Amino acid sequence: MKYGHFDDNRREYVITNPRTPWPWINYLGNEDFFSLVSNTGGGYSFYKDAKFRRLTRYRYNNVPMDSGGKYFYINDGETVWSPGWKPCKTELDSYECRHGMNYTTIKGVKNGVEAEALYFVPLKTWAEVQKLTLRNTTNEVKALKIFSFVEWCLWNAASDMENFQRNFSTGEVEIEDSVIYHKTEYKERRDHFAYYSVNEPMQGFDTDRETFFGLYNGFDEPQTVLEGAPCNSEAHGWSPIASHYVEVVLQPGESKELVYVLGYVENAPEEKWESKNIINKTKAKATIARFDTAAKVDAALAELNAYWDNLLNVFTIKTGEEKLDRMVNIWNQYQCMITFCFSRSASFFESGIGRGMGFRDSNQDLVGFVHQIPERARERIIDIASTQFPDGGCYHQYQPLTKKGNNEIGQGFNDDPMWLILGTTAYIKESGDFTILDEPVPFDNEIGSEVSLFHHLTVSFDHVVNNLGPHGLPLSGRADWNDCLNLNCFSNDPNESFQTTENKSEGSQAQSLMIAGLFVVYGRDYVELCKVIGKTEEAARAQQHIDAMVAAIKLNGWDGDWFIRAYDYFGNKIGSKDNEESKIFIESNGWCTMAGIGLEEGMVAKALDSVKERLDCEHGIVLNNPPFTKYYIEYGEISSYPPGYKENAGIFCHNNPWIMIGETVQGRGDRAWEYFRKICPSYTEEISDLHKVEPYVYAQMIAGKDAFKPGEAKNSWLTGTAAWNYYAITQYILGIQPTYNGLRIEPCIAPEWKGFAVTRKFRGATYQIEVKNPNGSMKGVASLTVDGKAIEGNTIPLMPVGGTYKVEVVMN
Ligand code: BGC
Ligand code: NOJ
Repeated sequence: MKYGHFDDNRREYVITNPRTPWPWINYLGNEDFFSLVSNTGGGYSFYKDAKFRRLTRYRYNNVPMDSGGKYFYINDGETVWSPGWKPCKTELDSYECRHGMNYTTIKGVKNGVEAEALYFVPLKTWAEVQKLTLRNTTNEVKALKIFSFVEWCLWNAASDMENFQRNFSTGEVEIEDSVIYHKTEYKERRDHFAYYSVNEPMQGFDTDRETFFGLYNGFDEPQTVLEGAPCNSEAHGWSPIASHYVEVVLQPGESKELVYVLGYVENAPEEKWESKNIINKTKAKATIARFDTAAKVDAALAELNAYWDNLLNVFTIKTGEEKLDRMVNIWNQYQCMITFCFSRSASFFESGIGRGMGFRDSNQDLVGFVHQIPERARERIIDIASTQFPDGGCYHQYQPLTKKGNNEIGQGFNDDPMWLILGTTAYIKESGDFTILDEPVPFDNEIGSEVSLFHHLTVSFDHVVNNLGPHGLPLSGRADWNDCLNLNCFSNDPNESFQTTENKSEGSQAQSLMIAGLFVVYGRDYVELCKVIGKTEEAARAQQHIDAMVAAIKLNGWDGDWFIRAYDYFGNKIGSKDNEESKIFIESNGWCTMAGIGLEEGMVAKALDSVKERLDCEHGIVLNNPPFTKYYIEYGEISSYPPGYKENAGIFCHNNPWIMIGETVQGRGDRAWEYFRKICPSYTEEISDLHKVEPYVYAQMIAGKDAFKPGEAKNSWLTGTAAWNYYAITQYILGIQPTYNGLRIEPCIAPEWKGFAVTRKFRGATYQIEVKNPNGSMKGVASLTVDGKAIEGNTIPLMPVGGTYKVEVVMN
């Protein structure tokens, strides 16, 4: 069953039934000011950091779901309703939500009145702008009472939810003209406030929550709205809100637009006050003035649309597969931008208080984003590397506001350092900017400790080399990519965190075949980089370690039909035919096949066939099989999940592309394509009722074949799945690969594909690439021409900047 449809021309997903199986959300803003908005108007806003600068409240895990948001209430004299159906839940005559690129419109029709709310964050603006368009489609005059609503969060989203003895006494607001200012704590250490304005004189307002709702009413029945009269309440402590009351009279056929601005201001300490206890509103007024007419709002939206045209024009495809094209051209790239902005911090599954920016996550997210705005990727790489330690280890996460490493989660995830090599080389291949390697970058943000970024790559590489276990394989530390395979934790105390408790790493033999494969893949990238910049000795030194790792994997990592997953603390195999449960895992087989280890000896094909046989199912490839059915103290969190969920035999979508890429190494385009479609959201749209989450973005996990409800997805939006699928489809299936000195074309497709077309902007030139597959082949380029001239090999050399070039590729 579907709840809407794609509108590719407008780059929107159109939801036509508000009762989606889960709130289907969108993100507004892409630099400093952000909002999350659901298809019924739920969600919240924050400035840069969802924990420390939360502007409006939201109630996670509430009953009903998705409580709190930016609501409009309409009282038309007979009925009280909301354009988004919720929160009033008055049956609408029609409903439509359009989620687009960083904007959302929600339209409801009731009793002949159409109300459409547009929400977006204009470029370079610390505010969310909302335009409410009201239209009278009847032959009678309509007198409407419009109430807006947001609830302020007292800045720190964590303490806002717990420290009520203080919170209920601190709230302060100011009301001037049609603007409600939220200034809680402004007179002490905060130099910021928030505001909510409307571009019309208001006939009333409320800022005290209980006055607005009535103590025992929910979001669906605010007393003032039901009574049709605001109370002009001024909040003193308790829970400050902002609600404007505006009366609108519409003649038959008439329409009216109201513009609301929800903004954030920072003032320098000496400029905080206008007079005693009256805040300096200059900056707020300036922003409000930028959007005081509907025409100005429309112009700002047009600018945002043009911005997205530009971003999405860098890479476009035409394959004849509508569902594929819309993912690659629109939604997958959009999700990559969002994961780049938020890492794993704020979604409807991530509360915005628990996790900051992940070291490994952000490096991987970069790969799906770097072609859009390389300069932002550059800045991010430096931020990430600045949290590294001199021995190459690093904080697992950092806070976006302070950019400092997060002490609570600490370090010791031994895959982390290698991802910096991926992030940096992806950036240089895209941009050609080698100067980043000379950039001075500190350790642990210590001023004075700066070394070159290249040095950071060296210590990253060496961190693996310096932490090898008894089988010559990388020690896993707290965990490798799989956060839940906690081999040194041995936790039997439910009050401990699996992630941060590391009881026994001393003397541990816990080694990871996932890190081993990862090291070979990105170690080779490191070697290639060294050669390109003339560091031949370093390249040779690194190559020796890689060769040794390949040998160790073949010797100690092969189980006969697949690669084992790890060795545990005691040196016993994990993910081996000798194990009773979880005989095979996806990650090591993904990375070792991507690395092509044992390709000639048939190991790659065999491992991939075992994955197909044991891990593949209707909805994707599960992480391990058979699932753990009891708790193994020596394995940790992975065995705490019920079978079929999360890291215990869930379809953990992030790692499915590793197998797709492995299949392309083996040259089996048909398999790669089959796996791609299984988890690709546009291909599962038809089963939205089972799948539950948004059909336009990837989810972290789909319940696996052993789960209670196979095919049910969770944790949409913020997942490495976005970047990895984009990387797999564009660089390995379609095979358009940026390299240091040109664009390599190496498709690996299903044999029934007759060809496809790609337009790729790269280093200032535009390439119009036509790939033809006359013989139904899966891999291999027979010829390549640029503007009719034959080229040796399959790499298009860098062409003069500014030009457009026609490239024709014929497969074998
Ligand atoms: C999740 C990870 C998370 C970890 C720590 C795992 O279950 O899949 O995303 O990092 O738990 O909470
Ligand atoms: C999600 C985390 O963000 C990521 O870092 C991790 O690799 C996966 N979960 C697997 O546990």
